[in-house]
Amino acid sequence: MAGLCLTVLFVIVTTSYSLEVSDKETNLPSIESRFPYSLSMLTVNPCCYYPCQHKGVCVRFEMDKYLCDCTRTGYYGTNCTIPEWWTKFREFLRPSPAFYHYILTRFKWFWDIINSTFIRDVIVRLVLTVRSNLIPSPPTYNSAYGYISWEAYSNVSYFTRVLPPVPDDCPTPMGTKGKMELPDASLLVETFLKREKFIPDPQGTNLLFAFFAQHFTHQFFKTYGRMGRGFIKGFGHGVDLSHIYGDSLERQHMLRLFTDGKLKYQIINGDIYPPTVVEAPVFMIYPDNVPKEKQFAVGQEVFGLLPGLMMYATLWLREHNRVCDILKKEHPTWDDEQLFQTTRLILIGETIKIVIEDYVQHLSGYYLKLKFDPELLFGVQFQYRNRIAVEFNQLYHWHPLIPEKFQILEDEYSHSRFLYNTSILLDYGVEALVESFTKQIAGKIGGGKNHHPGLLKVAAGVIEESRKLRLQPFNEYRKRFGLKAYKSFKDLTGEEIMSAQLEELYGDIDALEFYLGLLLEKSNPNSIFGESMVEIGAPFSLKGLMGNPICSPEYWKPSTFGGETGFNIVKTATIQKLVCLNVKQCPFVAFHVPDDVLPKLKKSDEL
Ligand SMILES: *[C@@H]1O[C@H](CO)[C@@H](O)[C@H](O)[C@H]1NC(C)=O
Ligand SMILES: *[C@@H]1O[C@H](CO)[C@@H](O)[C@H](O)[C@H]1NC(C)=O
Ligand SMILES: *[C@@H]1O[C@H](CO)[C@@H](O)[C@H](O)[C@H]1NC(C)=O
Ligand SMILES: *[C@@H]1O[C@H](CO)[C@@H](O)[C@H](O)[C@H]1NC(C)=O
Repeated sequence: MAGLCLTVLFVIVTTSYSLEVSDKETNLPSIESRFPYSLSMLTVNPCCYYPCQHKGVCVRFEMDKYLCDCTRTGYYGTNCTIPEWWTKFREFLRPSPAFYHYILTRFKWFWDIINSTFIRDVIVRLVLTVRSNLIPSPPTYNSAYGYISWEAYSNVSYFTRVLPPVPDDCPTPMGTKGKMELPDASLLVETFLKREKFIPDPQGTNLLFAFFAQHFTHQFFKTYGRMGRGFIKGFGHGVDLSHIYGDSLERQHMLRLFTDGKLKYQIINGDIYPPTVVEAPVFMIYPDNVPKEKQFAVGQEVFGLLPGLMMYATLWLREHNRVCDILKKEHPTWDDEQLFQTTRLILIGETIKIVIEDYVQHLSGYYLKLKFDPELLFGVQFQYRNRIAVEFNQLYHWHPLIPEKFQILEDEYSHSRFLYNTSILLDYGVEALVESFTKQIAGKIGGGKNHHPGLLKVAAGVIEESRKLRLQPFNEYRKRFGLKAYKSFKDLTGEEIMSAQLEELYGDIDALEFYLGLLLEKSNPNSIFGESMVEIGAPFSLKGLMGNPICSPEYWKPSTFGGETGFNIVKTATIQKLVCLNVKQCPFVAFHVPDDVLPKLKKSDEL
């Protein structure tokens, strides 16, 4: 048996390395003479050219040689560029992302028919598997390890990453292309990202969506400042609801009531709100002038920042305690711990359901009705694990969503009056906030020039982080996710002015940085952002959602959720129900502005 295994292994190893170690081309003396590296003794690390295509792995040999490992890429040759015959066939049949985006966002009548047939399941399964397969699982690199290693695999304090860092000894910051120094980050955000006039999202995304995005993603995007960029705080790496329950057992225990599985709460004007830090002594970030009696205590320490985040924290707190009551009625023998733990799993399920069927559904603009049904993946190969990637964190900085002012009922709030204002939630209540945030349109994310001036430093921080972590160029990520590299800045932005400025600052489209590329790419027609944000973001997102253990065959059954009642709460969750089961009067709830607001906006834009 062992002998057979070894033979098989040997065959695999020898066949996959049937590629010559190629001498590096000699037609590149300019960089070496311009920039002699004493360390590498006048030779450029050949992996700095990103020679390996189609997910091939570059390994350096001797000083100036490299080898592309093309194993299971479907390609062969020095740089993994020659397709095997079936790859040719598959590539021939594969529609371009632009093509299927076009189909999925048009022909509503067609998708209405598909919706009620089994074909819907087939397509949703295809979307889930094709997207998830782009994410390496188990995870591969991190910011300290540009090669497969046990440390990178096992040390979950790191964000993972899909592409290894730019090698340290490359001649330019982005590899071999572009200038010796990258443009100043604050100049970049001033030039390309600063808002001149608020640009509303053509898809009608509202602030209820914007705050949901921020609230939801802050359970897994928690950069651990103290350990440096590239490290994550908390070990959930996905939808663990640590933003509700805290990212440590200690914090969780502070927030729990230890009766009937419930979380601590306070009642104000007859409504349930999170406790204060006096009652639940956990660390929360608030300015010094906010007294402890006014500081809310919730799972995520940053949620005091915006009333919209605390509004969601309140809704989920109410939902948790509501579900506890339901479970307690069916299971009078269960102790506090079991009620708490089972409720947490139900809320994880509700979250994933809402994110796929309400949130991603809205964002995609697809007429295909998405479906959260883990059973769709039971027949295919799928790993129920997830590791949050640096690239996903970078990509998810969607601050252009934030408007100039916040409109709550008849009142207008500037950023400075809104931030850290603890009385807004209590004075207006959850209903009024939901209603107001649903009606107010959010900003368009893609296309540039839509950051509120106060948020430019956040964007500059993203760019600076990507430099510290040595993220590869935007075009390398395009290729990694099955897209064509852009040939010029004009090709990227689809216009003249910004592309000329970019050309001057970067010198080469292949040296453009990841985040700026995502934000400045021309948008899809009538869409919130461009192709790359969708094609790179969706795989991370869907893998993170479906890779949750509750979606695995072992967990996805009624008993996990305390029986059919709990299972049904998961299977029927919507954003509408999350709000309306937890407030007294049900407002209009959606992730887009009401239809009568959108046409008005479009008209006023045309005028
Ligand atoms: C492989 O890639 C390198 C670096 O991009 C390039 O110089 C070389 O010509 C390529 N070789 C082949 C055989 O395509
Ligand atoms: C799609 O089909 C499901 C049942 O298969 C139904 O509940 C839902 O209302 C349909 N949606 C649309 C938009 O037709
Ligand atoms: C993970 O790596 C960091 C940096 O090397 C180190 O400080 C930390 O102790 C490691 N964590 C574990 C659990 O080994
Ligand atoms: C905070 O919000 C309240 C309304 O709830 C408002 O009256 C007050 O002016 C705001 N505080 C600041 C500092 O702007």
